Amino acid sequence: MSQYPKSVIFHKYKSALADFLGLSPAHLTLYWKGRVGLYAILQALDIGPGDEVLLPGFTCVVVPNAILYRGAQPIYLDIDPRSLNLNPTQIEPHISPRTKAILVQNTFGLSPDFAAIRQLADRHQLKIIEDNTHGFGSRYRGQASGLLGDAAFFSSQWNKPFSTGIGGFVVAHEPELRQALHRIEASLPPPSSRADWMLRRQLQLRQLLGHSTFYWPALRLYRWLSQNNLISGSSEGGELAGPQMPEGFLRGAAPIQAEEGLRQLARFPDNIRHRRRLADRYQAAFREWGFPPIYEPEYADHLFLKYAFFVRDRPAFLDLAARHRIPLGDWFLSPIHPIPSHWERWQYRTGSCPIAEKLSRHILNLPTDPSVSLAEAERIIAFLADHRSTLLAPEEYAPLHP
Ligand SMILES: Cc1ncc(COP(=O)(O)O)c(C=O)c1O
Repeated sequence: MSQYPKSVIFHKYKSALADFLGLSPAHLTLYWKGRVGLYAILQALDIGPGDEVLLPGFTCVVVPNAILYRGAQPIYLDIDPRSLNLNPTQIEPHISPRTKAILVQNTFGLSPDFAAIRQLADRHQLKIIEDNTHGFGSRYRGQASGLLGDAAFFSSQWNKPFSTGIGGFVVAHEPELRQALHRIEASLPPPSSRADWMLRRQLQLRQLLGHSTFYWPALRLYRWLSQNNLISGSSEGGELAGPQMPEGFLRGAAPIQAEEGLRQLARFPDNIRHRRRLADRYQAAFREWGFPPIYEPEYADHLFLKYAFFVRDRPAFLDLAARHRIPLGDWFLSPIHPIPSHWERWQYRTGSCPIAEKLSRHILNLPTDPSVSLAEAERIIAFLADHRSTLLAPEEYAPLHP
């Protein structure tokens, strides 16, 4: 239990986040999850029935879910295969009189091409919402990502730049929007005591997972507990079945998230350095094997939340990796990850984002987080080297480059 009252611990956490971002704490509001923060932004912007939101068709299903929970319509745009971010050339042809906002994503910690997007948003009087769930700690032209749109939501869920198990926060700038968000934040009920209890167990398990001896047995235990609903998973079953808001979705933050967030932020500079070091090591290996480096445009400092690469036959590769106990990630295995089919339930029309559809059949990612030691990264590289004939060669996806 915290030694501080809830309001004090929340203020401390907001202040630490604000310090990192170079803002005042009044710009921040806290939520149980990042997706609740997105819902709050949409509500504060009064986006609802009859409105359209443009977003990349290479996203997590909880993003269109929040748009659909508001009664608005997601309009999916294709991505640039180099950046894996929304391709700005896709925006203008999809703007209609109903368009209210452009939602841009900072995929794997690479900032989108903001100058181009801001120009279009201003020309058409659209709001920009940043999905900065991958990008806390990344930069756009030297400025912290997440400060360039009208509002940004962040996640501190399991696999994010820093983790409080689950968690989310929002940054907004314009005073009226900030006030609306503060009103929403104050109106949200706290998580249930069961959810709070489960999150505490999850954080204890995470400590076990971080210890390499226990990684695989603890991961199996974590998955079993999650499947049996004994700990707070990131997505509840209903969220993956269709765009109906599950009961208890709209929840405020819990003090345990702020306490854990403060601990994680104290180590964050080391966390960022570690990610860059591992990414550089992976990059050197891929270069040696003849693959092009990950796209790093001059405007961005990439966070490398994950190091993306492509394989010919993903199920076979994942199988092989599991047998060698190589920890791989599989985002985004569909344009609305992790939904494998029935995309029309989320108003996604098959064929509408051909680049995202193709890449999502082949993409995998390598971990960069501090629980992965340099020695473990070398073991992962040795595994990839042994199986490099199954990696997707650049010329196989190069024709997709714009
Ligand atoms: C791109 C993207 N957007 C949004 C989210 C939602 O964040 P949260 O789990 O905190 O709701 C996630 C991850 O879960 C994500 O990967």
